[in-house]
Amino acid sequence: MGNDVIYIGSDHAGYRLKLKIKRLLERTGHKAVDVGVNDDRKRYDYPKTAAKVAKKVADEGGRGILLCGTGLGEAIAANKFKGVRAANCFNEYTARMSREHNDSNVLCLGARVLGGKEAEKITKAWVEADFSKEERHIRRLKQIKDIEKKACR
Ligand code: RB5
Repeated sequence: MGNDVIYIGSDHAGYRLKLKIKRLLERTGHKAVDVGVNDDRKRYDYPKTAAKVAKKVADEGGRGILLCGTGLGEAIAANKFKGVRAANCFNEYTARMSREHNDSNVLCLGARVLGGKEAEKITKAWVEADFSKEERHIRRLKQIKDIEKKACR
């Protein structure tokens, strides 16, 4: 799969917002690959979807978007994968900064804390922003990678 792919997943709490965000991605010319879940009729455990998206991003590159109630649990789970930088963004500024400064490759959104329009704005800002490639940010990301090497066995 090419690097232009955006893997998208949710638990039950993020399901409806996921459909909205997926439509936005498709409308704006992105290839969204939905890894589930496929309904909100029962409760699903967020670490499972987070792992699916994070594994794709870690193994194949590209980016991911995860939606749950708060965005928190999925970010915590996704960040267990080497090379994944999942950011729980709550406005356009944090979305942009997470790309420009932290080169985030997974966006986590909280469906119970964000309105649909706000979530769309955040997604648009995140998708359109790029890593700044400034020396200080490259240095800091390398420090994170070093921590990952030492801390993950
Ligand atoms: C589900 O109730 C909720 O815990 C989940 O969607 C998420 O917010 C976890 O962080």
